[in-house]
Formats: sequence, C-alpha cells, structure tokens
Amino acid sequence: MTIIAPSILACDFTNIQSEISVIESSPKTWLHLDIMDGHFVPNLTFGGPVIKRISQITKLPLDAHLMVTNPKFHVDMMKDYGIHNITFHYEAIDDCLELIKYAKQFYPSVGISIKPKTSVSEISKDILEEIDLLLVMSVEPGFGGQGFIEETYEKLDAIKPLKEKYKFQVQVDGGVKNNNSQKLVTHGADNLVAGSYVFNGNQNDYLSNIESLRE
Ligand code: DX5
Ligand code: ZN
Repeated sequence: MTIIAPSILACDFTNIQSEISVIESSPKTWLHLDIMDGHFVPNLTFGGPVIKRISQITKLPLDAHLMVTNPKFHVDMMKDYGIHNITFHYEAIDDCLELIKYAKQFYPSVGISIKPKTSVSEISKDILEEIDLLLVMSVEPGFGGQGFIEETYEKLDAIKPLKEKYKFQVQVDGGVKNNNSQKLVTHGADNLVAGSYVFNGNQNDYLSNIESLRE
C-alpha cells in the first residue's frame, strides 16, 4: 500500500490538534512537516518548538522535510522528538554523506531530497547506498499549492533501477492529487506527500481525500 504523507502546511494552523486528530486513524500515513528557513527557500514556516509539541499529540510517524541551509542544526535539535524520517536537501550542503551517517544515529529513517532541476545522476553511489528514502520534488520547494511538474515521471523512471539496487523508498512531493497519484506509483513512487489535496473541504473529507490518492 502506498504511504501517504499529508503536509500540515495546508492545514488550519489555528486548529492544528484537531486537524491532526482527524487523520490519526488513517493506515500507512505519515505526517509531513515542511520546515523552511527563509534562506534555502524564500518562505518561513515552523521549527523545533512547534514540532516538539506536535510529536506529543500524535502517534502518526513524523516525516520532517528540511528546506534549510543548515540541516545539521535541525537534525541535532529534533533528535529526541521521536521523528520517524528526516530528509534534508542534497543541494543544501557539501558533505551530504557525512550528515546522512550522522543523522542515522538518531533517526530510524534518513532521506535526501532533490529539487526539480537536480539530476539523480549527480548523486554518488555511496549516498544511494546509505539513504532510506529519496524525496523527489515535483514542484520548486517553498510553497504549497503549486502545479505538478510533468518531467517528474522521467526522473522517476531513471530512479527505478537505482531504487531496486540500493533499496531506498521513493517519495514524491508537490502538486500530488488523485489525477496523478496512480501514475506516480506506476513510475515507482512508494510514498506521496500531499498538502492542499488532503486538507481540502472540511474535516469530514480528509480521510477520503487520503484514500482517493490510493485508488
Ligand atoms: C513544498 C513542500 C510540500 C508542499 C506540498 O515546498 O515541500 O510538502 O507543502 O503541498 P501541495 O501538496 O499543496 O503541493
Ligand atoms: Zn515537503
């Protein structure tokens, strides 16, 4: 079953506990946390203190997506919050491999993310061997609600043999809706992030929005 990772970026932040509780019972569902620093991406969201409180009110596996220029700082800050997966951007730092190995001491799953213009051929074999997850951005990181970039399918096709060889899961993030979710799975996605598609309508709709991404 495809993992769905609703991004709280699109939820009602004045009502966050109730927004999360609605999706708590959903199977194979991660809670995606978009952490933006206003440097790596223009936008600014939330960080350690907010995530610490979220981790105390949910049993959903937490999926931290760091869009920051200094991921090591956040890896350290959040290491005791019970986060399941932490992903940082390949483009953000020079020694990606070193930080992956470091983060693996504290997190069950460690991923790297690539922006739409970054080719998978840039990523070294050593990194591919070490990661648990590869996050393929299907929009430019920074904002929810953007249109899906169609070239993502070709990128996924190039990743498929690598994923089988090196055994990591492939996550896709940005513009995911039920009109592209099945095609993404066919092209090798194991895990789909969706913000505006899931937190749309009223709370009675969220679970069926998640399920419709698996149909
Ligand atoms: C973009 C974020 C995404 C975003 C997804 O930088 O990484 O997780 O919130 O939002 P939608 O699903 O609305 O494109
Ligand atoms: Zn994200």
